[in-house]
Amino acid sequence: MARKIIIDCDPGQDDAVALLLAFASPEELELLGITTVGGNVPLRLTHRNARMMCDIAGKQDVPVFAGCAEPLVRPLQTAEMIHGETGINGIDVFEPDTPLQDEHAVDYIIRTLMDADQDSITLVPTGPLTNIATAIDKQAAILPKIHRIVLMGGAMREGGNRTPSAEFNILVDPEAADIVLRCGRPITQLGLDVTHQVLSTRDRVDRIRALGNPVAEATADMLSFFDRYDTEKYTSKGAPLHDPCTVAWLLKPGLFDGKDCNVSVETQSELTLGHTAVDFWHVTDRPINVHWVYRVDADGFYDFLIERLARFGEDS
Ligand code: RIB
Ligand code: CA
Repeated sequence: MARKIIIDCDPGQDDAVALLLAFASPEELELLGITTVGGNVPLRLTHRNARMMCDIAGKQDVPVFAGCAEPLVRPLQTAEMIHGETGINGIDVFEPDTPLQDEHAVDYIIRTLMDADQDSITLVPTGPLTNIATAIDKQAAILPKIHRIVLMGGAMREGGNRTPSAEFNILVDPEAADIVLRCGRPITQLGLDVTHQVLSTRDRVDRIRALGNPVAEATADMLSFFDRYDTEKYTSKGAPLHDPCTVAWLLKPGLFDGKDCNVSVETQSELTLGHTAVDFWHVTDRPINVHWVYRVDADGFYDFLIERLARFGEDS
């Protein structure tokens, strides 16, 4: 039976590819809804970008909700320098046919989980954790309904990508990350240590473009824009495809290696705000709260992504 999921995102080209990978996998994933949050770009753009992906993939039936525009207690910091002014540079933006639902994303998450069976819904956050934390804070009774939280965020050996100590999703709302990491439900966390292994090299982008269907074309165009920042800054051979790692872990966990350990987040220090302290060697008695993913078969990941993107051309 397909796993029921909600993707909470801040598109962002990599969030967009995570959505497309989920759309391409209906046998394994029942995407109940998409909730959006302020992050890479302001909320008015993240929900528009998510709805654009629904149009591009022909999935206008998937409900899209707008959530929290700002973090719990801090001003929003965005990342246009990476994603471009639209948040999805690389493709032309348009006003999508997919409507924005009237219900607030947090209320949708609470309503859906309260109506669900125990241990039945997987949450897949790929942006700041504000919506998820707000839902937990507002209605703790949703917790037993959560089967697992599979999130992109944090870093251990890779250091930070927004400060020397912190990865963007966690840094934007460290208080929200703290609530989620302490919530007591099973968590799989994919941080920069694993996402920096999946680089959208020219060869890989060319293989995606060669699929020749409109969704693959849009993906190649987005990644062609998305990689310029990382190649300049990190001199890497392409941009890390962060967010699709969450959906890929759900679909093909054998591509990844992880270890159960404690992950805690810094919410006080000016210097290391948003740092995720990953107790990989169990040197403390902090409780195990996360399955920390640290390795991936990058070639296998791209072979899988390309196989799934090819599906968008099969019925045309
Ligand atoms: O640090 C990478 C994360 O921040 C990704 O989710 C990217 O989309 C941005 O949200
Ligand atoms: Ca994201």
